[in-house]
Amino acid sequence: MAPALRVFLTSAEIQKRIGEMGASIAKDYPSGPLYLIGILRGSFMFLADLSRAIAVPTRIDFIGISSYGKDKSSSGQVKVTKDLDVSIEGCDVVVVEDIIDSGITLSYLLSLLEQRRPRSIRIAALLDKPDRRQRPVHVDYVGFEIPDKFVVGYGLDYAEDYRALRDICILEEG
Ligand code: IMP
Ligand code: MG
Repeated sequence: MAPALRVFLTSAEIQKRIGEMGASIAKDYPSGPLYLIGILRGSFMFLADLSRAIAVPTRIDFIGISSYGKDKSSSGQVKVTKDLDVSIEGCDVVVVEDIIDSGITLSYLLSLLEQRRPRSIRIAALLDKPDRRQRPVHVDYVGFEIPDKFVVGYGLDYAEDYRALRDICILEEG
């Protein structure tokens, strides 16, 4: 049977929470500028909305990290598929991630970015599944803590499908 989608977070709920996240980020960096580093590809929609919710100057770049293939759980192997185009040395950086699951992707990425000597580095994640954590990661700004369910939409995919949905939905196997 085809998988079924059940709405879990509506577009309105997501936008309201992103407004709150943007306000607390702006409060923590009152003078900007802030480098927002989006992790491709799942964070692209969140980054677009979060950047507009932060009322201090921001700059944007993306890094491509892959650890998943077509599966629903991490392969445990992480590789950089697209590096940053800019230097972040001396910059205040906020890494923007769609969802934190095992923590493997982010702990790898943080050690990579720290070698580039930013002035500070924090993490903003729209979704967090704390029950699934295998590596400890401190997330500074969390949108929603969610249970251990596979979700799609608002940038998140399953085998590259469903990214364009406005709501975040639980993907239920038929
Ligand atoms: P981690 O390395 O296990 O923390 O995996 C993080 C990455 O796995 C995220 O950036 C997503 O790309 C992907 N991921 C984890 N859980 C989900 C999910 O429920 N739906 C879609 N992608 C997910
Ligand atoms: Mg991702």
